[in-house]
Formats: sequence, structure tokens, C-alpha cells
Amino acid sequence: MDKLLITGKKELKGEIFASGAKNSALPVLAASLLAESPMKVSNLPHLNDVTTMIELLGSMGIDIMLNEDMDVYVDASSIKNLNARYELVKTMRASILVLGPLLAKFHQAKVALPGGCAIGSRPVNLHIDAMRTMGASISLEGGYINAKSDGRLKGKTINFDPVSVTATENVLMAASLAEGETIINNAAKEPEVVDLADCLIKMGAQIKGQGTDKIVIQGVETLVGCDFSVMPDRVETATYLTAVAMTGGDIKIKGTRPNSVDSVVSKLREAGALIKSGEDWISLKMEINRPKATSLSTGPYPSFPTDMQAQFIALNSIANGTATVTENVFENRFMHVQEIARMGGKISLKGNTAIIQGIKDLVGAPVMATDLRASASLVLAGLVAKGTTQIDRIYHIDRGYERIEEKLNILGADIERIS
Ligand code: UD1
Repeated sequence: MDKLLITGKKELKGEIFASGAKNSALPVLAASLLAESPMKVSNLPHLNDVTTMIELLGSMGIDIMLNEDMDVYVDASSIKNLNARYELVKTMRASILVLGPLLAKFHQAKVALPGGCAIGSRPVNLHIDAMRTMGASISLEGGYINAKSDGRLKGKTINFDPVSVTATENVLMAASLAEGETIINNAAKEPEVVDLADCLIKMGAQIKGQGTDKIVIQGVETLVGCDFSVMPDRVETATYLTAVAMTGGDIKIKGTRPNSVDSVVSKLREAGALIKSGEDWISLKMEINRPKATSLSTGPYPSFPTDMQAQFIALNSIANGTATVTENVFENRFMHVQEIARMGGKISLKGNTAIIQGIKDLVGAPVMATDLRASASLVLAGLVAKGTTQIDRIYHIDRGYERIEEKLNILGADIERIS
């Protein structure tokens, strides 16, 4: 199993390009199921989750072609079966995104239940309830969601509680081909939801209100394939900015969307970073020795993203002062705390709040990645620690960060992948 070996205490400096967003690539690839004609999706990141989604479509008999730029051509008209098998779904919860499109287009779907997850129970009840409201009959049998609809799904009002990103996306896709009007109340406002809506509109869907908490969709009878380039990955951009706020130095990230990281930028400024941005770039300079302790609470967009919580625990662990970080989106998303503690971090947990007393230096140690963003926090901790940090189980990081060691080494880090 691959490991990352990081020798810390190197200042980071330089320019990198942002990769395409995983959380936009996955729903956009799922949306290709809705099209009558082939679809071209570009700016896809080379990530295991994206490969899993492509494999999932391929396992349904769909013709998929890739060119050397990793543009993917999907022709859903060649579909042969409507099953999302457990072997693929278990490695990626976002496989649930095929439920809405399969039901809307083919009026039938068999999708494995994703099961447990390291960061809390993460149920899929909202997805299932919404499809039922739209007229699908659904039974849960043998670990599978068996869904059927008698003709087209029906446009309805869906009220989400809590707000859910992928459930909003599933309903957006299903409603685009449903009969009549669908209203999504308490819809997720994440930029990736807007990206998906923009893609569906390019395919012929009639959608209004994306980016607000009320989305209105007028169903149409057919959607066609289009060329769509997915947005830049805001969590990746925010992670690299945070890395440099910790190590000191300066970074420019090109090909990104600065306004998608506003909540993180305001916390990095609070930590002492100097940040500038243009239309498609953002830069960060850290002139002080250590970041200042920065307290925060996570929440749905535009609040501080849960996908950056672990990285800010790493930042606060070497900050000047004491901070609290409260996780409001997922239960049990603190697996990284024990690992950072192995490197000397002084962190205690009280319910869904971590109290972090910043210390001057973490010390390199063997640690284990437990989920995607937790592993990013361990990389950041390794970059500032004295000595060498060895991170095990880095397949988690390969799900969400494209060429992470290559990008960090360009900036002057010392990271090696070993097996
Ligand atoms: C998406 C992102 C993930 C991010 C998360 C929150 C993708 C592929 N993944 O995940 O990176 O961390 O949003 O920003 O886009 N919930 C239910 N029932 C459901 C669905 C969700 O109770 O049926 C709860 C969850 O347990 C959680 C909350 O809703 O407490 C929000 O989760 P959700 O927005 O659904 O996360 P994902 O869409 O899975």
C-alpha cells in the first residue's frame, strides 16, 4: 500500500494550477445519463472517485471514450442495464447520484445502499424520500434500492431538512425530465450545485434559482448531450492556501474561482495571511512566523465548508493561541484529531467542538489517513512538522487531490510516495 513520506519545515513558494472539482465532476458525469445524444465532459481531475464514476457508467454498458486530455465522451443511449453494483458504490457514496437520472430517464434503477462511512452515518433517506414524493415506488431489499416509476416522474415540492448537496443534485437531475414543475426548498447553495444546474441548462433543462435556497425546475421531455467543462476545485484551492499559511512563503493558484473560497479566505486573513485575487487566480503571502489561532464553525455553503475543517485543525495546532473548531455538518468527523495528537498536537474534543491549543512545533510521526479530508490535514501537519512524517492509507487522498505530491513539490515541499 502506498505511503507518503514528508520531510517538514520547508517554506512553500511558487505557482500551481487548480484541478477540476471532484464534487462537480461526479454529478455532471451522472447527468450524462439523462442525454439522448453523446456528452463531452472536460476539465475532469485524475482522481479515483472520478474513475469510479466512469467505471460505474461503464458497468451499465454505456459507451465511454477518453482522449489524451482526459475529456470524457459518454453515450448513454448504449445503456444495457440499470444497476449500480455494490462493489463500486461501496467505494464511493456519491454513486447514489445515478438514482435520480436512471429513474427519470429509464423509469427504473437498482442502486446499492452505500452503507456506513468513516465520517458518520451519512444516510440516503433524503434521496429516497424525494424520489418517492416524485412518484417512484421504492423498496429496500438485499442491500439495494429498487426503484421504479410508472412513466415519467412527477414534478412536486421537495422540502429538504437538513440541507443536502447530493440529494439536491439528485432531485435537480430527476426533475429536469419530470412532468411539470418541481420546487426544491432548502436547496443546497454550493457552487457545485450551480455548476450542475448550468450543465443541465446547456442540455436543455429549464431551471431557475440555482445558488439560492429555492430552485424551480420545469420538466422537459428530452435533454441532449452538450460540451461541459467542470468548475475548478474550491477545496483543493483552499487546502493549498492553508498549507502556505502554515509553512510560510507565498503561492499563486491559477485557473481557480476566488469567490468560491470566500469563507476560507476570511479565516486565513484572520490567521494573518495576505491574500489577493483576480478573476481566475488567487495568491497568499504569509509573512509572520506562525498563523494566529482562528476559531470557526462549519456549515452549508456559504458558511465555512466541512471539507476544510480538518485542515484548519492542522493550522490551529501550530498557531499562536487557542482556537475552537465546531463541526455542524457531519457527526464523528474528527478522526484526524488523534493522528495530529500523535505528532504532538494539543487538541481536546467536547461534543462536536475541538479545542486546539497551538504549539510551536509538531513533530513528524507515522500516522494513518482515515478519510479524504483527514488525510489532507495530515499532509499539512507533515509539511510544518520537525523531521519526517509517514502517512499510511493514502488511497483516501487519491480520491480527492490530483497529483498532490507533485503540486506540493513544485512549491518546494519534500514529499515522496513510497510503497
Ligand atoms: C457532499 C460532498 C462532500 C461534503 C458534503 C457537505 C459531494 C460528492 N460530496 O456530500 O464532499 O462534505 O456535501 O458539504 O458533493 N443527510 C441525511 N440524509 C440524507 C443525506 C444527507 O441526513 O439522505 C445529512 C448528512 O448525514 C449530513 C448532512 O445531511 O449530516 C449533509 O450531507 P450532504 O450534503 O448530503 O453530504 P453529501 O451530499 O453526501
